[in-house]
Amino acid sequence: MSDNSGNSGGSHRLKDKQLAEHVAENRSYWDGMASDWVGAGQRSWQQDSPTWGIWGLPESQLQLLPVDMTGMKAIELGCGTGYVAAWMTRRGAHVTGIDNSLEQLKTAERLMKEYELEVDFIHGNAEDVPYPDASFDFAINEYGAAIWCDPLVWIPEAYRLLKPGGCLTFLGTHPIAILATPDDGSNCDESLHRPYFGMHQQDWRNVEHDPGGIEFNLSHSDWYHLFQNTGFEVLDYLELQAPEDSSETKFSIPAGWGQKWPSEQVWKLRKKG
Ligand SMILES: C[S@@+](CC[C@H](N)C(=O)[O-])C[C@H]1O[C@@H](n2cnc3c(N)ncnc32)[C@H](O)[C@@H]1O
Repeated sequence: MSDNSGNSGGSHRLKDKQLAEHVAENRSYWDGMASDWVGAGQRSWQQDSPTWGIWGLPESQLQLLPVDMTGMKAIELGCGTGYVAAWMTRRGAHVTGIDNSLEQLKTAERLMKEYELEVDFIHGNAEDVPYPDASFDFAINEYGAAIWCDPLVWIPEAYRLLKPGGCLTFLGTHPIAILATPDDGSNCDESLHRPYFGMHQQDWRNVEHDPGGIEFNLSHSDWYHLFQNTGFEVLDYLELQAPEDSSETKFSIPAGWGQKWPSEQVWKLRKKG
């Protein structure tokens, strides 16, 4: 594993950088709860066929990955335990996974060895990736940079990393779910708890329920204009619905809420050129 984290001792460390407040907070938040994610990571590495998001929707429905990735260079931006990287490697891609949490990457490295796959895992910030321009054919993340990085920074960074014609796909929280989250961080309900216009950073450090972490989301028009101004073409946009037969609450989204309103969104983009 190489290190672009700003910590000392990394083999590929560039130079010490002051981490932005949200990057430092999210690093200690994820390092602190990485052990809670080992089981889910193991189950996902085991899967032959990908499933996505909090409702586990199948790849046959969402089609987030190219079917044949033979010879493609792909990057996962906020890879966590690395299972999406594993799925892409099994499809034939040469994959890099970057994550801000060393503890999450320890699980990813262990599972990589267990499954005898080759993934280049690096410790660093997906807003500032230590690779040259136009290094990748495909970039993806599921609840990685999509929610934990500042879109005004990571979307242009993903654009820089892609070759012309390369694609970026990401899945994260739908802005409506942010609006419907009460100020104390409890489950989504049927009220609007914060302004839609101008939404950008959501700081959960001082909430009563599950405190910690700084997330980001934008209004639809702000996402759209960000993509346009960066140079991405929008290929598709999905709003994900909880399956009819689900009845559990997943990460503060009651199934009944997720059946009525979109809890997650997927953007599929292509770098123009
Ligand atoms: C929910 S996990 C996403 C991975 C996996 N798809 C999953 O759902 O478990 C979120 C990951 O984003 C990482 N992350 C947060 N901020 C990041 C940043 N600035 N750069 C790279 N990774 C980041 C966290 O360390 C964490 O491992």
